[in-house]
Amino acid sequence: MGGLVNWIDARFPLTKVWNEHLAEYYAPKNFNSWYFFGSLAMLVLVIQIVTGIFLTMHYKPDTALAFTSVEYIMRDVPGGWFIRYMHSTGASMFFIVVYLHMFRGLLYGSFKGPRELVWLIGMAIYLALMAEAFMGYLLPWGQMSFWGAQVIINLFNTIPYIGEIVSQTIRGDFVISDPTLNRFFAFHVIAVPLILVGLVFVHIVALHVVGSNNPDGVEIKKLKDDKGIPLDGIKFHPYYSVKDIMGVVVFLIVFFAILFFIPEGGGYFLEHANFEAANPLKTPEHIAPVWYFTPFYTVLRAVPDPWYGTLAMFAAIAVLFILPWLDKNPIKSIRYRNTAHKINIVWFAVFFLILGYLGVMPVTDFFRELGTRATQIYFLFFLVTMAHSRPEKAKYILWFIALFALVLFTDWLRWNDSFTGPQRHYFWMMLTLPTIYLASTLLLPMFVSRCNKEKEVPERVTG
Ligand code: HEM
Repeated sequence: MGGLVNWIDARFPLTKVWNEHLAEYYAPKNFNSWYFFGSLAMLVLVIQIVTGIFLTMHYKPDTALAFTSVEYIMRDVPGGWFIRYMHSTGASMFFIVVYLHMFRGLLYGSFKGPRELVWLIGMAIYLALMAEAFMGYLLPWGQMSFWGAQVIINLFNTIPYIGEIVSQTIRGDFVISDPTLNRFFAFHVIAVPLILVGLVFVHIVALHVVGSNNPDGVEIKKLKDDKGIPLDGIKFHPYYSVKDIMGVVVFLIVFFAILFFIPEGGGYFLEHANFEAANPLKTPEHIAPVWYFTPFYTVLRAVPDPWYGTLAMFAAIAVLFILPWLDKNPIKSIRYRNTAHKINIVWFAVFFLILGYLGVMPVTDFFRELGTRATQIYFLFFLVTMAHSRPEKAKYILWFIALFALVLFTDWLRWNDSFTGPQRHYFWMMLTLPTIYLASTLLLPMFVSRCNKEKEVPERVTG
Protein backbone atom coordinates (compact mmCIF):
# COMPACT_ATOMS: atom_id res chain seq x y z
CA MET A 1 0.00 0.00 0.00
CA GLY A 2 2.81 2.39 1.04
CA GLY A 3 4.61 1.60 -2.21
CA LEU A 4 1.54 2.43 -4.27
CA VAL A 5 1.04 5.72 -2.43
CA ASN A 6 4.69 6.64 -3.00
CA TRP A 7 4.32 5.77 -6.68
CA ILE A 8 1.25 8.04 -6.95
CA ASP A 9 2.86 10.81 -4.84
CA ALA A 10 5.77 10.95 -7.28
CA ARG A 11 3.26 11.75 -10.01
CA PHE A 12 0.33 13.46 -8.24
CA PRO A 13 0.15 15.33 -4.86
CA LEU A 14 -2.16 12.73 -3.24
CA THR A 15 -0.73 12.76 0.28
CA LYS A 16 -0.30 16.53 0.14
CA VAL A 17 -3.97 17.08 -0.77
CA TRP A 18 -5.13 14.53 1.82
CA ASN A 19 -3.10 16.25 4.54
CA GLU A 20 -3.89 19.82 3.58
CA HIS A 21 -7.63 19.30 3.27
CA LEU A 22 -8.36 16.48 5.73
CA ALA A 23 -5.75 14.91 7.99
CA GLU A 24 -3.97 18.17 8.82
CA TYR A 25 -6.73 20.62 8.12
CA TYR A 26 -7.51 22.23 11.46
CA ALA A 27 -11.14 23.09 12.05
CA PRO A 28 -12.45 24.89 15.16
CA LYS A 29 -13.16 22.43 17.94
CA ASN A 30 -16.56 23.91 18.81
CA PHE A 31 -18.62 23.05 15.72
CA ASN A 32 -22.24 22.31 16.59
CA SER A 33 -25.05 20.64 14.62
CA TRP A 34 -25.44 23.63 12.30
CA TYR A 35 -22.12 22.58 10.82
CA PHE A 36 -23.56 19.33 9.49
CA PHE A 37 -25.32 20.99 6.60
CA GLY A 38 -22.28 21.69 4.40
CA SER A 39 -21.31 18.03 4.23
CA LEU A 40 -24.98 17.03 3.93
CA ALA A 41 -25.33 19.37 0.94
CA MET A 42 -22.42 17.53 -0.67
CA LEU A 43 -24.08 14.20 0.09
CA VAL A 44 -27.37 15.31 -1.51
CA LEU A 45 -25.49 16.62 -4.54
CA VAL A 46 -23.95 13.17 -5.02
CA ILE A 47 -27.35 11.48 -4.51
CA GLN A 48 -28.91 13.77 -7.13
CA ILE A 49 -26.17 13.10 -9.66
CA VAL A 50 -26.18 9.31 -9.18
CA THR A 51 -29.98 8.96 -9.24
CA GLY A 52 -30.10 11.41 -12.16
CA ILE A 53 -27.78 9.17 -14.20
CA PHE A 54 -30.09 6.19 -13.68
CA LEU A 55 -33.20 8.22 -14.51
CA THR A 56 -31.58 9.42 -17.73
CA MET A 57 -31.21 5.79 -18.82
CA HIS A 58 -35.00 5.47 -19.10
CA TYR A 59 -36.29 9.01 -19.54
CA LYS A 60 -37.22 10.34 -23.01
CA PRO A 61 -36.80 14.10 -23.60
CA ASP A 62 -39.64 14.30 -26.12
CA THR A 63 -42.98 15.99 -25.46
CA ALA A 64 -44.80 12.96 -26.87
CA LEU A 65 -42.95 10.51 -24.61
CA ALA A 66 -41.65 12.35 -21.56
CA PHE A 67 -44.67 11.93 -19.29
CA THR A 68 -45.16 8.26 -20.12
CA SER A 69 -41.44 7.54 -19.78
CA VAL A 70 -41.62 8.80 -16.18
CA GLU A 71 -44.71 6.63 -15.58
CA TYR A 72 -42.75 3.73 -17.06
CA ILE A 73 -39.88 4.40 -14.65
CA MET A 74 -42.35 4.47 -11.74
CA ARG A 75 -44.23 1.30 -12.67
CA ASP A 76 -42.11 -0.97 -14.85
CA VAL A 77 -38.42 -0.28 -14.34
CA PRO A 78 -37.16 -2.47 -11.44
CA GLY A 79 -36.50 -0.12 -8.50
CA GLY A 80 -37.42 2.79 -10.78
CA TRP A 81 -39.90 4.25 -8.28
CA PHE A 82 -37.17 4.30 -5.65
CA ILE A 83 -34.66 6.08 -7.86
CA ARG A 84 -37.24 8.57 -9.09
CA TYR A 85 -38.51 9.37 -5.58
CA MET A 86 -34.94 9.70 -4.33
CA HIS A 87 -34.36 12.27 -7.03
CA SER A 88 -37.62 14.19 -6.65
CA THR A 89 -37.65 14.12 -2.83
CA GLY A 90 -33.88 14.71 -2.96
CA ALA A 91 -34.51 18.04 -4.72
CA SER A 92 -36.59 19.27 -1.79
CA MET A 93 -34.10 17.88 0.73
CA PHE A 94 -31.35 19.74 -1.13
CA PHE A 95 -33.13 23.03 -0.60
CA ILE A 96 -33.95 22.27 3.05
CA VAL A 97 -30.28 21.51 3.70
CA VAL A 98 -29.03 24.53 1.73
CA TYR A 99 -31.49 26.92 3.41
CA LEU A 100 -30.34 25.69 6.83
CA HIS A 101 -26.71 25.96 5.71
CA MET A 102 -27.30 29.58 4.64
CA PHE A 103 -29.18 30.37 7.84
CA ARG A 104 -26.22 29.08 9.85
CA GLY A 105 -24.09 31.60 7.93
CA LEU A 106 -26.51 34.32 8.98
CA LEU A 107 -26.49 33.23 12.64
CA TYR A 108 -22.74 33.09 13.00
CA GLY A 109 -21.78 35.86 10.57
CA SER A 110 -19.89 33.39 8.36
CA PHE A 111 -20.43 35.68 5.37
CA LYS A 112 -18.22 38.37 6.92
CA GLY A 113 -14.55 38.93 6.22
CA PRO A 114 -12.42 37.02 5.50
CA ARG A 115 -15.14 34.68 4.12
CA GLU A 116 -16.94 37.05 1.75
CA LEU A 117 -15.81 35.04 -1.26
CA VAL A 118 -16.99 31.77 0.30
CA TRP A 119 -20.39 33.41 0.70
CA LEU A 120 -20.40 34.83 -2.85
CA ILE A 121 -19.53 31.45 -4.32
CA GLY A 122 -22.26 29.96 -2.10
CA MET A 123 -24.74 32.44 -3.58
CA ALA A 124 -23.64 31.45 -7.09
CA ILE A 125 -24.28 27.83 -6.08
CA TYR A 126 -27.72 28.83 -4.83
CA LEU A 127 -28.56 30.50 -8.18
CA ALA A 128 -27.32 27.48 -10.12
CA LEU A 129 -29.35 25.23 -7.85
CA MET A 130 -32.50 27.20 -8.52
CA ALA A 131 -31.88 27.03 -12.28
CA GLU A 132 -31.21 23.30 -12.01
CA ALA A 133 -34.42 22.66 -10.06
CA PHE A 134 -36.50 24.86 -12.33
CA MET A 135 -35.35 23.07 -15.48
CA GLY A 136 -35.65 19.64 -13.88
CA TYR A 137 -39.26 20.31 -13.00
CA LEU A 138 -40.21 20.71 -16.67
CA LEU A 139 -38.88 17.26 -17.58
CA PRO A 140 -41.77 15.04 -16.32
CA TRP A 141 -43.99 17.11 -18.62
CA GLY A 142 -46.90 17.20 -16.18
CA GLN A 143 -49.45 19.98 -15.90
CA MET A 144 -47.47 21.89 -13.28
CA SER A 145 -44.21 21.35 -15.19
CA PHE A 146 -45.76 23.04 -18.17
CA TRP A 147 -47.74 25.80 -16.50
CA GLY A 148 -45.14 26.60 -13.84
CA ALA A 149 -42.54 27.05 -16.58
CA GLN A 150 -45.06 29.11 -18.55
CA VAL A 151 -45.49 31.56 -15.66
CA ILE A 152 -41.78 31.88 -14.94
CA ILE A 153 -40.63 32.19 -18.55
CA ASN A 154 -43.35 34.78 -19.22
CA LEU A 155 -41.78 36.94 -16.53
CA PHE A 156 -38.96 37.63 -18.97
CA ASN A 157 -41.54 39.13 -21.33
CA THR A 158 -41.85 42.03 -18.90
CA ILE A 159 -38.26 43.18 -19.58
CA PRO A 160 -38.60 46.40 -21.60
CA TYR A 161 -37.71 46.18 -25.33
CA ILE A 162 -35.95 42.80 -25.31
CA GLY A 163 -38.39 40.76 -23.18
CA GLU A 164 -39.97 38.92 -26.10
CA ILE A 165 -36.59 37.93 -27.54
CA VAL A 166 -35.29 36.74 -24.18
CA SER A 167 -38.29 34.51 -23.47
CA GLN A 168 -38.26 33.11 -27.02
CA THR A 169 -34.58 32.29 -26.64
CA ILE A 170 -35.27 30.46 -23.38
CA ARG A 171 -38.14 28.50 -24.96
CA GLY A 172 -36.53 28.02 -28.37
CA ASP A 173 -40.02 28.60 -29.73
CA PHE A 174 -43.02 30.93 -29.41
CA VAL A 175 -44.56 28.54 -26.89
CA ILE A 176 -43.20 25.93 -24.51
CA SER A 177 -42.70 22.90 -26.71
CA ASP A 178 -40.27 20.22 -27.80
CA PRO A 179 -37.24 22.53 -28.25
CA THR A 180 -37.85 23.88 -24.74
CA LEU A 181 -37.91 20.38 -23.28
CA ASN A 182 -34.77 19.42 -25.18
CA ARG A 183 -32.73 22.40 -24.10
CA PHE A 184 -33.92 22.14 -20.50
CA PHE A 185 -32.90 18.49 -20.57
CA ALA A 186 -29.41 19.38 -21.87
CA PHE A 187 -28.95 22.06 -19.22
CA HIS A 188 -30.41 19.98 -16.41
CA VAL A 189 -28.46 16.83 -17.15
CA ILE A 190 -25.04 18.13 -18.05
CA ALA A 191 -24.43 21.91 -18.15
CA VAL A 192 -25.71 23.01 -14.75
CA PRO A 193 -24.51 19.92 -12.80
CA LEU A 194 -21.01 20.58 -14.18
CA ILE A 195 -21.23 24.19 -13.05
CA LEU A 196 -22.54 23.08 -9.65
CA VAL A 197 -19.74 20.59 -9.07
CA GLY A 198 -17.16 23.18 -10.17
CA LEU A 199 -18.64 25.80 -7.87
CA VAL A 200 -18.76 23.44 -4.88
CA PHE A 201 -15.09 22.64 -5.50
CA VAL A 202 -14.05 26.30 -5.45
CA HIS A 203 -16.38 26.91 -2.47
CA ILE A 204 -14.38 24.41 -0.43
CA VAL A 205 -10.99 25.57 -1.76
CA ALA A 206 -11.87 29.17 -0.85
CA LEU A 207 -13.05 28.04 2.60
CA HIS A 208 -9.85 26.12 3.24
CA VAL A 209 -7.74 29.19 2.45
CA VAL A 210 -9.39 31.29 5.16
CA GLY A 211 -10.49 28.45 7.46
CA SER A 212 -13.89 27.78 8.98
CA ASN A 213 -15.81 30.17 11.15
CA ASN A 214 -17.53 28.69 14.24
CA PRO A 215 -20.44 29.34 16.62
CA ASP A 216 -18.32 31.82 18.61
CA GLY A 217 -17.16 33.71 15.54
CA VAL A 218 -13.58 33.53 16.83
CA GLU A 219 -10.76 33.36 14.27
CA ILE A 220 -8.83 30.30 15.41
CA LYS A 221 -5.86 31.12 13.16
CA LYS A 222 -5.00 34.07 15.40
CA LEU A 223 -3.79 31.89 18.28
CA LYS A 224 -1.34 29.18 17.31
CA ASP A 225 1.12 27.02 19.26
CA ASP A 226 4.85 26.99 18.50
CA LYS A 227 4.30 24.38 15.77
CA GLY A 228 1.89 26.75 14.03
CA ILE A 229 -1.20 24.69 14.95
CA PRO A 230 -4.27 26.67 16.01
CA LEU A 231 -4.82 26.25 19.76
CA ASP A 232 -8.58 25.89 19.22
CA GLY A 233 -8.30 23.64 16.17
CA ILE A 234 -8.67 19.89 15.78
CA LYS A 235 -7.86 17.79 12.76
CA PHE A 236 -10.78 17.52 10.36
CA HIS A 237 -10.00 13.86 9.93
CA PRO A 238 -10.76 11.82 11.97
CA TYR A 239 -12.67 14.13 14.34
CA TYR A 240 -15.13 15.81 11.98
CA SER A 241 -15.17 13.08 9.37
CA VAL A 242 -16.53 10.78 12.09
CA LYS A 243 -18.88 13.43 13.47
CA ASP A 244 -20.22 14.08 9.96
CA ILE A 245 -21.02 10.36 9.57
CA MET A 246 -23.40 10.74 12.48
CA GLY A 247 -25.05 13.66 10.68
CA VAL A 248 -25.31 11.56 7.54
CA VAL A 249 -26.99 8.69 9.43
CA VAL A 250 -29.59 10.99 11.01
CA PHE A 251 -30.18 12.67 7.67
CA LEU A 252 -30.64 9.36 5.85
CA ILE A 253 -33.14 8.16 8.47
CA VAL A 254 -35.21 11.31 7.95
CA PHE A 255 -34.76 11.19 4.17
CA PHE A 256 -35.84 7.56 3.86
CA ALA A 257 -38.74 8.06 6.28
CA ILE A 258 -40.05 10.77 3.96
CA LEU A 259 -39.22 8.74 0.87
CA PHE A 260 -41.06 5.62 2.05
CA PHE A 261 -44.04 7.23 3.75
CA ILE A 262 -44.71 10.64 2.16
CA PRO A 263 -42.58 10.79 -1.01
CA GLU A 264 -44.74 13.53 -2.51
CA GLY A 265 -44.41 15.60 0.65
CA GLY A 266 -48.19 16.10 0.83
CA GLY A 267 -48.22 17.67 -2.64
CA TYR A 268 -45.39 20.10 -1.83
CA PHE A 269 -42.45 18.04 -3.15
CA LEU A 270 -44.40 16.71 -6.14
CA GLU A 271 -47.51 18.73 -6.84
CA HIS A 272 -50.67 16.72 -7.44
CA ALA A 273 -51.43 18.50 -10.71
CA ASN A 274 -48.22 17.03 -12.06
CA PHE A 275 -49.69 13.53 -12.11
CA GLU A 276 -51.62 14.66 -15.17
CA ALA A 277 -49.79 15.03 -18.50
CA ALA A 278 -49.13 18.59 -19.71
CA ASN A 279 -52.06 20.03 -21.60
CA PRO A 280 -51.47 23.44 -23.20
CA LEU A 281 -55.24 23.86 -23.62
CA LYS A 282 -56.14 23.34 -19.97
CA THR A 283 -54.85 25.81 -17.40
CA PRO A 284 -54.80 24.36 -13.87
CA GLU A 285 -57.04 26.18 -11.44
CA HIS A 286 -54.18 27.17 -9.20
CA ILE A 287 -50.59 27.47 -10.45
CA ALA A 288 -47.91 27.53 -7.77
CA PRO A 289 -44.19 26.91 -8.06
CA VAL A 290 -42.54 24.27 -5.89
CA TRP A 291 -42.17 25.34 -2.25
CA TYR A 292 -38.49 26.32 -2.41
CA PHE A 293 -39.24 29.11 -4.90
CA THR A 294 -42.34 30.41 -3.18
CA PRO A 295 -40.79 33.09 -0.93
CA PHE A 296 -39.58 34.88 -4.06
CA TYR A 297 -42.83 34.17 -5.90
CA THR A 298 -44.70 36.01 -3.13
CA VAL A 299 -42.33 38.97 -3.54
CA LEU A 300 -43.17 38.96 -7.25
CA ARG A 301 -46.90 38.91 -6.57
CA ALA A 302 -46.64 41.61 -3.90
CA VAL A 303 -45.84 44.27 -6.49
CA PRO A 304 -48.84 45.24 -8.67
CA ASP A 305 -46.76 46.01 -11.81
CA PRO A 306 -45.35 42.81 -13.41
CA TRP A 307 -42.04 44.37 -14.50
CA TYR A 308 -41.37 45.95 -11.10
CA GLY A 309 -42.53 42.71 -9.49
CA THR A 310 -39.95 40.78 -11.49
CA LEU A 311 -37.30 43.31 -10.52
CA ALA A 312 -38.29 43.03 -6.85
CA MET A 313 -38.06 39.24 -7.08
CA PHE A 314 -34.54 39.36 -8.51
CA ALA A 315 -33.58 42.10 -6.03
CA ALA A 316 -34.72 39.84 -3.18
CA ILE A 317 -32.10 37.30 -4.28
CA ALA A 318 -29.46 39.85 -5.33
CA VAL A 319 -29.48 41.60 -1.96
CA LEU A 320 -28.18 38.40 -0.35
CA PHE A 321 -25.03 38.72 -2.46
CA ILE A 322 -24.13 42.04 -0.88
CA LEU A 323 -24.91 41.00 2.70
CA PRO A 324 -21.19 40.98 3.68
CA TRP A 325 -21.03 44.68 2.83
CA LEU A 326 -24.29 45.59 4.57
CA ASP A 327 -23.53 44.05 7.94
CA LYS A 328 -20.34 45.80 9.02
CA ASN A 329 -20.61 44.84 12.69
CA PRO A 330 -17.21 43.39 13.68
CA ILE A 331 -18.88 40.78 15.94
CA LYS A 332 -19.70 37.72 13.87
CA SER A 333 -21.72 35.38 16.04
CA ILE A 334 -25.27 36.10 17.14
CA ARG A 335 -24.15 34.89 20.61
CA TYR A 336 -22.37 38.16 21.30
CA ARG A 337 -24.58 40.57 19.35
CA ASN A 338 -27.22 42.72 21.03
CA THR A 339 -30.83 41.69 21.62
CA ALA A 340 -32.07 43.96 18.83
CA HIS A 341 -30.01 41.97 16.32
CA LYS A 342 -31.39 38.69 17.67
CA ILE A 343 -34.93 40.04 17.31
CA ASN A 344 -34.08 41.12 13.76
CA ILE A 345 -32.95 37.60 12.82
CA VAL A 346 -36.10 36.06 14.32
CA TRP A 347 -38.34 38.44 12.34
CA PHE A 348 -36.42 37.60 9.18
CA ALA A 349 -36.73 33.85 9.65
CA VAL A 350 -40.44 34.05 10.52
CA PHE A 351 -41.29 36.33 7.61
CA PHE A 352 -39.24 34.30 5.16
CA LEU A 353 -41.36 31.29 6.15
CA ILE A 354 -44.53 33.38 5.82
CA LEU A 355 -43.43 34.48 2.33
CA GLY A 356 -42.92 30.82 1.46
CA TYR A 357 -46.32 29.81 2.83
CA LEU A 358 -48.13 32.58 0.95
CA GLY A 359 -46.52 31.54 -2.31
CA VAL A 360 -48.34 28.21 -2.29
CA MET A 361 -51.68 29.73 -1.27
CA PRO A 362 -54.24 31.16 -3.67
CA VAL A 363 -54.39 34.96 -3.60
CA THR A 364 -57.02 36.51 -1.34
CA ASP A 365 -57.20 40.13 -0.13
CA PHE A 366 -55.86 39.10 3.24
CA PHE A 367 -52.99 37.03 1.87
CA ARG A 368 -52.07 39.61 -0.74
CA GLU A 369 -51.73 42.31 1.92
CA LEU A 370 -49.81 39.99 4.23
CA GLY A 371 -47.50 39.11 1.32
CA THR A 372 -46.84 42.80 0.67
CA ARG A 373 -46.08 43.47 4.34
CA ALA A 374 -43.83 40.40 4.51
CA THR A 375 -42.01 41.66 1.40
CA GLN A 376 -41.50 45.05 3.03
CA ILE A 377 -40.10 43.39 6.15
CA TYR A 378 -37.85 41.14 4.04
CA PHE A 379 -36.17 44.15 2.43
CA LEU A 380 -36.20 46.24 5.62
CA PHE A 381 -34.24 43.46 7.32
CA PHE A 382 -31.17 44.33 5.25
CA LEU A 383 -31.42 48.04 6.04
CA VAL A 384 -31.95 47.37 9.75
CA THR A 385 -28.91 45.07 9.60
CA MET A 386 -26.93 48.07 8.31
CA ALA A 387 -28.26 50.15 11.18
CA HIS A 388 -27.06 47.50 13.64
CA SER A 389 -23.53 47.62 12.28
CA ARG A 390 -22.38 50.11 14.92
CA PRO A 391 -24.89 49.76 17.79
CA GLU A 392 -23.17 52.13 20.20
CA LYS A 393 -23.05 54.92 17.63
CA ALA A 394 -26.26 54.16 15.73
CA LYS A 395 -28.68 57.03 15.29
CA TYR A 396 -31.63 54.73 15.80
CA ILE A 397 -34.28 57.42 15.73
CA LEU A 398 -33.11 58.69 12.34
CA TRP A 399 -33.05 55.15 10.99
CA PHE A 400 -36.55 54.59 12.34
CA ILE A 401 -37.92 57.77 10.75
CA ALA A 402 -36.20 57.08 7.42
CA LEU A 403 -37.31 53.46 7.19
CA PHE A 404 -40.84 54.19 8.32
CA ALA A 405 -41.02 56.93 5.66
CA LEU A 406 -39.81 54.34 3.14
CA VAL A 407 -42.65 52.00 4.13
CA LEU A 408 -45.17 54.83 3.74
CA PHE A 409 -43.65 55.78 0.39
CA THR A 410 -44.02 52.24 -1.02
CA ASP A 411 -47.56 52.19 0.39
CA TRP A 412 -48.31 55.46 -1.35
CA LEU A 413 -46.98 54.01 -4.62
CA ARG A 414 -49.26 51.02 -4.45
CA TRP A 415 -52.30 52.77 -3.00
CA ASN A 416 -55.19 52.49 -5.39
CA ASP A 417 -58.43 54.44 -5.05
CA SER A 418 -60.29 51.44 -6.36
CA PHE A 419 -59.26 49.36 -3.30
CA THR A 420 -62.34 47.60 -1.96
CA GLY A 421 -63.51 47.94 1.65
CA PRO A 422 -61.74 44.76 2.85
CA GLN A 423 -58.57 45.71 0.96
CA ARG A 424 -58.46 49.08 2.71
CA HIS A 425 -59.16 47.41 6.03
CA TYR A 426 -56.26 44.96 5.64
CA PHE A 427 -54.00 47.70 4.31
CA TRP A 428 -54.34 49.78 7.48
CA MET A 429 -54.52 46.82 9.81
CA MET A 430 -51.28 45.31 8.53
CA LEU A 431 -49.39 48.57 8.50
CA THR A 432 -48.85 47.60 12.13
CA LEU A 433 -46.51 44.78 11.02
CA PRO A 434 -43.64 46.87 9.62
CA THR A 435 -44.30 49.42 12.38
CA ILE A 436 -43.87 46.84 15.13
CA TYR A 437 -40.92 45.37 13.27
CA LEU A 438 -39.12 48.72 13.08
CA ALA A 439 -40.03 49.58 16.67
CA SER A 440 -38.70 46.28 18.01
CA THR A 441 -35.44 46.46 16.10
CA LEU A 442 -34.71 50.21 16.17
CA LEU A 443 -36.65 51.88 18.99
CA LEU A 444 -36.25 49.12 21.55
CA PRO A 445 -32.43 49.30 21.60
CA MET A 446 -32.73 53.07 21.80
CA PHE A 447 -35.05 53.16 24.80
CA VAL A 448 -33.96 49.97 26.59
CA SER A 449 -30.18 50.16 26.71
CA ARG A 450 -29.99 46.52 27.85
CA CYS A 451 -31.21 45.52 24.38
CA ASN A 452 -28.39 47.42 22.75
CA LYS A 453 -25.59 45.83 24.79
CA GLU A 454 -23.19 43.57 22.97
CA LYS A 455 -21.19 40.95 24.83
CA GLU A 456 -17.45 40.77 24.73
CA VAL A 457 -16.23 38.15 22.28
CA PRO A 458 -13.88 35.69 24.05
CA GLU A 459 -10.37 35.22 22.72
CA ARG A 460 -10.71 31.43 22.67
CA VAL A 461 -13.68 29.37 21.55
CA THR A 462 -16.10 28.22 24.24
CA GLY A 463 -17.51 24.74 24.69
C1 HEM B 1 -24.44 22.53 -3.13
C2 HEM B 1 -24.47 23.43 -2.19
C3 HEM B 1 -23.42 23.63 -1.15
C4 HEM B 1 -22.47 22.77 -0.70
C5 HEM B 1 -22.22 21.33 -1.13
C6 HEM B 1 -21.72 23.47 0.31
C7 HEM B 1 -20.68 22.91 1.03
C8 HEM B 1 -20.05 23.50 2.10
C9 HEM B 1 -19.16 22.83 3.01
C10 HEM B 1 -18.79 21.35 2.96
C11 HEM B 1 -18.75 23.74 3.92
C12 HEM B 1 -17.82 23.46 5.10
C13 HEM B 1 -18.62 22.78 6.21
C14 HEM B 1 -19.61 23.71 6.85
O1 HEM B 1 -19.21 24.82 7.23
O2 HEM B 1 -20.80 23.34 6.96
C15 HEM B 1 -19.35 25.00 3.59
C16 HEM B 1 -19.17 26.19 4.27
C17 HEM B 1 -19.77 27.40 3.96
N1 HEM B 1 -20.77 27.59 3.00
FE1 HEM B 1 -21.46 26.19 1.72
N2 HEM B 1 -22.19 24.74 0.44
C18 HEM B 1 -23.24 24.89 -0.42
C19 HEM B 1 -24.02 26.01 -0.59
C20 HEM B 1 -23.82 27.22 0.07
C21 HEM B 1 -24.64 28.38 -0.08
C22 HEM B 1 -25.87 28.45 -0.96
C23 HEM B 1 -24.10 29.36 0.72
C24 HEM B 1 -24.56 30.77 0.96
C25 HEM B 1 -24.98 31.59 0.10
C26 HEM B 1 -22.95 28.80 1.37
C27 HEM B 1 -22.12 29.49 2.25
C28 HEM B 1 -21.13 28.90 3.03
C29 HEM B 1 -20.35 29.60 4.02
C30 HEM B 1 -20.42 31.11 4.37
C31 HEM B 1 -19.50 28.65 4.60
C32 HEM B 1 -18.47 28.90 5.72
C33 HEM B 1 -19.20 28.62 7.01
C34 HEM B 1 -18.40 28.78 8.26
O3 HEM B 1 -17.18 28.63 8.21
O4 HEM B 1 -19.04 29.07 9.29
N3 HEM B 1 -22.81 27.50 0.96
N4 HEM B 1 -20.15 24.84 2.47
